[in-house]
Amino acid sequence: MKTKYMNVQNNQLYIGNHSLVDIAKKYHTPLYVFDEKHLIDELDNYNNNFKSNLFDTEVIYASKAFLVPELCNLLKTKNFSIDIVSLGDMGILEKADFPFDKVVFHGNNKTIEELKYAVKKNIGLIVVDNLREIELLEKIASKQNKKINTLFRFNPGIDAHTHNYIKTALYESKFGESIYDEECTQKIVNAFNNSPHLNWLGCHSHIGSQIREHEPFIANIDKMLEFTKSLNDKYNLKLSVIDLGGGMGIDYESTPSGFNINDLLNKMIIHLENKSKELNLKLSKVLIEPGRSIVGTAGVTLYTCGYLKKTYGGKHYLFIDGGMTDNIRPALYQAEYDVDIVNKINNEKVLITDVVGKCCESGDIIAKDAKLPIPNENDIMVVYNTGAYTYSMSSNYNGLFKPSVVFVNDEIKIVSRRETKKDLNKLF
Ligand code: LLP
Repeated sequence: MKTKYMNVQNNQLYIGNHSLVDIAKKYHTPLYVFDEKHLIDELDNYNNNFKSNLFDTEVIYASKAFLVPELCNLLKTKNFSIDIVSLGDMGILEKADFPFDKVVFHGNNKTIEELKYAVKKNIGLIVVDNLREIELLEKIASKQNKKINTLFRFNPGIDAHTHNYIKTALYESKFGESIYDEECTQKIVNAFNNSPHLNWLGCHSHIGSQIREHEPFIANIDKMLEFTKSLNDKYNLKLSVIDLGGGMGIDYESTPSGFNINDLLNKMIIHLENKSKELNLKLSKVLIEPGRSIVGTAGVTLYTCGYLKKTYGGKHYLFIDGGMTDNIRPALYQAEYDVDIVNKINNEKVLITDVVGKCCESGDIIAKDAKLPIPNENDIMVVYNTGAYTYSMSSNYNGLFKPSVVFVNDEIKIVSRRETKKDLNKLF
């Protein structure tokens, strides 16, 4: 699927008035390209559709999907919070001068070093994963004489339909503690009661990623509101914040699935309002943490085509100058992507070929059985919908450089430069 402001001029793909062929030639391939206006529209959609008259709402961008300082700047202007998971993430936010009171710290095994630093920076919210972390955080906060806002991550036991590696709320998932484990819940309540430096505001849940159905999100609301209500009643608490996590999916394939995020957000708000009224549960704030659905469809990757090989067995391979180092998702999750040749956008698609990278792995495949016009060397290939979990999961396998990232709007900005030989040597 093309990004929102892509268009075709002279049989070539453009974003606005910028030719993607020119961009590829100027900034080197592989290249991550974001349609910045599209990105801004996604942020506005979340702001416009996730709001209620009954409670406050907060949209927290899950930065594991893609994080560079320039994106932090955009998020700042749109009043988003950011979810991070490591010291390294905190460093990027510092570089962008992002306010730490709008930062949410996640992770199932946060290190002492990370927790100390987060407390020192007066981080806005810490989502605690387990009992040990409550104790650890209390000690750290007490030593620094700080009061820290926290949520506890609970597992609602919802099996959302998505790839096994990105399901997070099965009974056997490693994240949080089950809402059904009464003994553990009792211990969690006791631990918070014995932690004067932790302000326990409510419960967090995240049911998985790339989910394109409404039901699991609605079921999660029911479970988490009922659970919060039961905690308040049973233990005489006043929990009033709820964080429903992220996981809203995108269409990677060109035929639309019919899943629409704005519809989902509106439905979630109505359900939250009705259900909290029905339970007589006073909600002060509801948080969500979308990652992929904000950046995923706004980004594409450009590659330069190389040799087209036909094997003895008759199979075609089109070689491109990147691969699993800049997009691990096909190898890891059997993810499928649509591809095109930028400078032959309307040509007849007469070839069926696998599009493969330059790494020494047979699994280094970007697209299987892609339908393409006959490619020539130096044609530019576009892989759509690569804004999420590509740059952030990239590696230097085979000594390949992390590609540049550019934001294309009226102007073009390099928001992360391409690595060099010198960068690769900086650790030795
Ligand atoms: N909140 C929490 C606690 C999470 O663990 C995640 C994603 C999110 C929010 C954001 O989920 P999203 O809205 O982006 O689905 N590398 C995988 C996805 C891993 C997701 C990890 N957690 C992929 O490429 O599909």
